[in-house]
Amino acid sequence: MNKVKFLDKNGAFELEDADLCNNLYFPLASERGLKSCVTPLLSGDSKIDQNHFLLEPMSIENLNNNRLTRNFWCLVNGAPWSANGSSASQNVDRLTDDREPCKVTAGFMWHKVERENKKLGIKSEITSFVPYDQNVEVHIVKLSNAGDKDMDITFIPAIPVYGRSADNLRDHRHVTSLLGRTYITDKGIIDAPTLSFDERGHNLADSRYFVEGYGIGSKEIAENPVKVVPVLDDFIGDGTPDWPEYVIRKSASGDDDHQYINDIPLGDRDGNKTISDKKDEEVAVHNFPECKDASGQEIIGAISFEKTHLKPGEDKTYIVYAGICKEDDEFRKIKEDLATPSKVYESLERTRSYWISKVNIKITTGDAYFDGFMRWVAFQPELRRIFGCSFLPHHDYGKGGRGWRDLWQDCLALLLMDPSGVRQMLLGNYQGVRIDGTNATIIGDGPGEFKADRNSITRVWMDHGVWPFITTRLYIDQTGDIEFLNEKCGYFCDKQIFRGRKVNPGLIRDDNSLRQANGDKYTGSVLEHILLQNLSSFWEVGEHNIIKIRDADWNDALDMAGDRGESVAFANAYAGNLIHLADMLESGKFPDDKVYVFEELGDLLIDDETIYEDIKSKENILEGFLSKVSGDITGNTIGIDIKSLSSNLRHKGMWIINHIRHNEWIEDHTEPNTANPDDKKQCDHNEEKLGWYNSYYDNSGRALDLSVPGHKNMMLTGQVFSIMNGTATDDQIEKICKSADKLLFDKDAGGYRLNTDFGIVKTDMGRMFGFAFGEKENGAVFSHMAVMYASALYQRGYARQGYKSLKALYELSSDYDTSKIYPGIPEYFGRHGKGLYGYLTGAASWYLMTATMNMFGIKGEYGNLVIEPGLLQEQFDQNGRCQIELEYAFRPLRIEIINPAHLDHGQYHIKECKVAGKNVKLENGAVKAVIGKNVIDALDLNVRNTIEVVLG
Ligand code: G1P
Repeated sequence: MNKVKFLDKNGAFELEDADLCNNLYFPLASERGLKSCVTPLLSGDSKIDQNHFLLEPMSIENLNNNRLTRNFWCLVNGAPWSANGSSASQNVDRLTDDREPCKVTAGFMWHKVERENKKLGIKSEITSFVPYDQNVEVHIVKLSNAGDKDMDITFIPAIPVYGRSADNLRDHRHVTSLLGRTYITDKGIIDAPTLSFDERGHNLADSRYFVEGYGIGSKEIAENPVKVVPVLDDFIGDGTPDWPEYVIRKSASGDDDHQYINDIPLGDRDGNKTISDKKDEEVAVHNFPECKDASGQEIIGAISFEKTHLKPGEDKTYIVYAGICKEDDEFRKIKEDLATPSKVYESLERTRSYWISKVNIKITTGDAYFDGFMRWVAFQPELRRIFGCSFLPHHDYGKGGRGWRDLWQDCLALLLMDPSGVRQMLLGNYQGVRIDGTNATIIGDGPGEFKADRNSITRVWMDHGVWPFITTRLYIDQTGDIEFLNEKCGYFCDKQIFRGRKVNPGLIRDDNSLRQANGDKYTGSVLEHILLQNLSSFWEVGEHNIIKIRDADWNDALDMAGDRGESVAFANAYAGNLIHLADMLESGKFPDDKVYVFEELGDLLIDDETIYEDIKSKENILEGFLSKVSGDITGNTIGIDIKSLSSNLRHKGMWIINHIRHNEWIEDHTEPNTANPDDKKQCDHNEEKLGWYNSYYDNSGRALDLSVPGHKNMMLTGQVFSIMNGTATDDQIEKICKSADKLLFDKDAGGYRLNTDFGIVKTDMGRMFGFAFGEKENGAVFSHMAVMYASALYQRGYARQGYKSLKALYELSSDYDTSKIYPGIPEYFGRHGKGLYGYLTGAASWYLMTATMNMFGIKGEYGNLVIEPGLLQEQFDQNGRCQIELEYAFRPLRIEIINPAHLDHGQYHIKECKVAGKNVKLENGAVKAVIGKNVIDALDLNVRNTIEVVLG
């Protein structure tokens, strides 16, 4: 069995034979915007955004089949060999006994691959990283003579430069190459396109793409390459990318200096000068000579070094880097920062520690492998912050930006790890809300940058209004900053009105801002935004008096029930929000007695149960409100007393809950088949009574979840949100758990599936039913929902049941032979348990949050720190200890949970809690310890403070 092996407590790992899996890829990226990925063969692409791809865009299917990617060629005593294993001959050997051993070692944002060719007696070690603050990928290539004879090596790294927008892959691919201008530098090439191609109006190109390299000579002197081949066609010739004519001819001629075709000598121009010898102005792109013959062609940075002689045991290292820059200054800075080997190694070290420090939650349990896995789960939200949902090989459907619900949920984890910039970020995000309660769906890179939709299709996802308050609530709990609710910000305004059902082109303005009657930009409080989102959804119901699903909810693939579809699942979530907001306003922490909101919102505050019951009246209320806000608003405000507001919200929330309890619960009615003893056994089990909640209504007005003789349909989503938001009673939770265990749980598939097999293509519900069963949103174990199921169960006190879901996900993720992924959690597990859509999944945020706040039970409550462990007996080490390191209120904490009697959850209570040696007062039999904000604030900011919790 092949297994990923952790090397340290920061998640560094190694994996032998990694190149035997075609779907493995690893992310490397910088804070400045460069996003690369590398496979064990160093395939993969690199880009800043949709319009700036350094390397040709790749999807999972061509990831390792596309040989037009980074290649580190060597002539070893004249024989061609790819130091990254990507040559035709190595490929032929890959699945035979002659294969080269290949090992990947990696940690946050760095990746090393080692391989050895015994016949040639050569070993390579290629360390790749993207400095955290620059748009350049760096490869440190060490070649060693591992044989017993002297060896000559000519090193020819070759990186094809794509240098344009991903759109041009099938839109004027050739024409766009004509726009290129090629400059030859002292160490490689620069591709500086003239225009960025766009038939709606071409623009001057704003970026240059470069590939450079040097060898490390004695005394750390940079040895420049001697030749460069800038034209892809010249390099590949009549060969193939993995058997290029340039390399093969050189090899065949036996003469490394053989002048084959357009390679350009470099050596005598700059000799061995390092960048520090050059004056700044010399480094400007246009001060390098343009190679007219190479301009307007498909480009490659194929740079050839002088032959080097290695005795057995000797090695030689080269630095190769490729990147994107906008300004000469940026290029100059990159060259400077990478000018000497020591600077490169420093940059690698800085990059490593930068990312390690970002991921500042570390857990130690009785299972060290789980602790390593959790380091990667904690890192994943950072990756999604950077890569969005578009820029890794499985994620080929996006053009960048981030989706609304993903943005808010990623904030959950970022909040736990680094709350410093979160307040500003949340405020910026609230500006995406429209005055009808819907929102812009794609968030650009800068704060407050939004777009209606990535494909300019008008869509409304009914769950979108749920997430902002969930995140804001966590923020307020963690920080105590309830005054954030009074912070003001604007609204997003485009032509869409009436919750996506009509347009008003008169509203299109450059700054997308909402105005009031006097022409001023309108701003309202965060609380007002929250009320608007939740109330406008409350009134938008379908024929079962359940909130309409519109174009989909969390499950993007329920996208064909726009007229009559309803989401019971997320109606629960809105109910939860209304009640939690009421709790918050009643907590006594909110500073004011009254809140002010725009006067039109008053319509949505009607509080009358007979109206709640009446679908037609609800529709009228919503329509009346929408017509008032379908242009600029008056700008007048009304004041509402906090007490009446909170009871109003509570009534609405409780009404939804009661409505769902009365109408959507499904008792399992299966009759036992007494003739079949197995079935009888099942049905004895049934005597424990199964039952679950309906999750949806389809476009024909039929419930999706059902139990009729011979058929049971169950969807996980409805259970998650009814449990999480208090709709499901304890008795119902027990039935739901049993039903989910029976109908959805499949250990080999990673745990709880998203749904049972409906067996039909339901065109009245969504594309998910067109997917094969067991894939993605149709019945796969979809990590995000499986984790939220765990979270919901923990929140309701069902730790063991919650852990079962987390554990199944962890076990399959970590079973490399089956899941075929590096450490971390995939979006889902597909055919034969394979993990898909690695790294970029909302599941990671929720996993981290559940592990921290529910499993360890470390959470904020208006700034106080609460410790309420949900750890199970088997999670403690032999000495009955578990530990978590994290920051709370900017204080580094180490929280040790000690369970000397090895008790299980439910058996233990908190016997003792000490903060930096001082006892915290506990109630008798307490299951939680509450540490006051003042106690936390008094702790040291610069050292790790210990909190000890003893269970008994
Ligand atoms: C992805 C999307 C998310 C959507 C989910 C289900 O989930 O990013 O917005 O809700 O599919 O359709 P993720 O992998 O992020 O958990």
